[in-house]
Amino acid sequence: MALVRTRGAAATQIDSESALPETLEAAAALAPTFANLLVRWQKSHGRHSLPWQKTRDPYRVWLSEIMLQQTQVATVLDYYKRFLQRFPTVADLAAASPDEVLGLWSGLGYYSRARNLHRCAQDVMRLHGGRFPKTSGLLQTLPGIGPSTAAAIASFCFSERVAILDGNVKRVLTRLMAFSGDLASSAQERVLLGVATVLLPRRKLREDMPRYTQGIMDLGATICTSRQPSCPLCPVQNLCVGLASGAPERFPVKTRKLKRSALSLSLLWAERADGAVWLERRPATGIWGGLYCFPVFSSEDELLASLPATLQGQLLAVPPFVHVLTHKDLRLSPMRLALAAKATRVQQLPGAGSWFTRDALTVLGLPAPIRKLLA
Ligand code: ADE
Repeated sequence: MALVRTRGAAATQIDSESALPETLEAAAALAPTFANLLVRWQKSHGRHSLPWQKTRDPYRVWLSEIMLQQTQVATVLDYYKRFLQRFPTVADLAAASPDEVLGLWSGLGYYSRARNLHRCAQDVMRLHGGRFPKTSGLLQTLPGIGPSTAAAIASFCFSERVAILDGNVKRVLTRLMAFSGDLASSAQERVLLGVATVLLPRRKLREDMPRYTQGIMDLGATICTSRQPSCPLCPVQNLCVGLASGAPERFPVKTRKLKRSALSLSLLWAERADGAVWLERRPATGIWGGLYCFPVFSSEDELLASLPATLQGQLLAVPPFVHVLTHKDLRLSPMRLALAAKATRVQQLPGAGSWFTRDALTVLGLPAPIRKLLA
């Protein structure tokens, strides 16, 4: 059940499972006030100095949105600057090698984003004459651009009246409406997208759409936080049905938890006396797809079996550690093999790898735990 009230009215209850029109009606009643308050608040209290806010260039906005998909603003700032220095235009990015793009992305994680980023730049050049399409519908046809990212780009750059629905926005809207539909269900997500769309501004779109989009992101990031939201500072506290219900933190409701799994891997860390390490490229799909990595084995026995007896005796176990991915805990057990500067013939080491000097590593895409080990 969801509590819904219009301004000044007593709270009434609706069942969000069956009452889609009522949910939308309630949102429509709040819409003009909500949009006005949010836009005004963004002007006076929102974030203004982020580098991607000073432009309506879709290349720059797209790059920031892809980087921000699973990464905090503070981390993105440096990467964003370096990417733009190296690739000032979408044409520069499209012309780069996949390795260079992965290398610059190294450390940001979720590497499918980097592979799609490169493909997207190439599609923009090949299919769209070097210009990003100007609608959220067309933007979604490009690799790595889902509905919410397309909406962010289209509203920021072209003032399209279209709703984003990332995690922050879902939190703000479910609290505002005391929306108790379970967001594990895609039907309920669609209802919430309907609510989000009804709430968008209807006037002065050129100026207000970018501000509204930024405002709702800023509100979710700074005030309407998952734990201990700062409701007394919120510009829409008087409209918020979740707050009126007494427990805004109850929203959003999402029952299905991510199923986590664990995977144990043994890593062969072969290092020459001059510091060069033996790395092989991972297959394009799966864990660390396309990155350069120590040879990976499913067990220590398998790792041993890949080496000649002379090298097996020289292995030293490094303390195992856990690296946490979104859906998986990786238990990593490196085995270190210290070799003389030029001693080992390539044929004695497993896989299709090669030696990389420490200098070469700086521009190579490496999984975060491998980079950490080498540091
Ligand atoms: N997260 C996603 N897009 C963002 C933006 N434009 N500003 C701040 N955080 C964001």
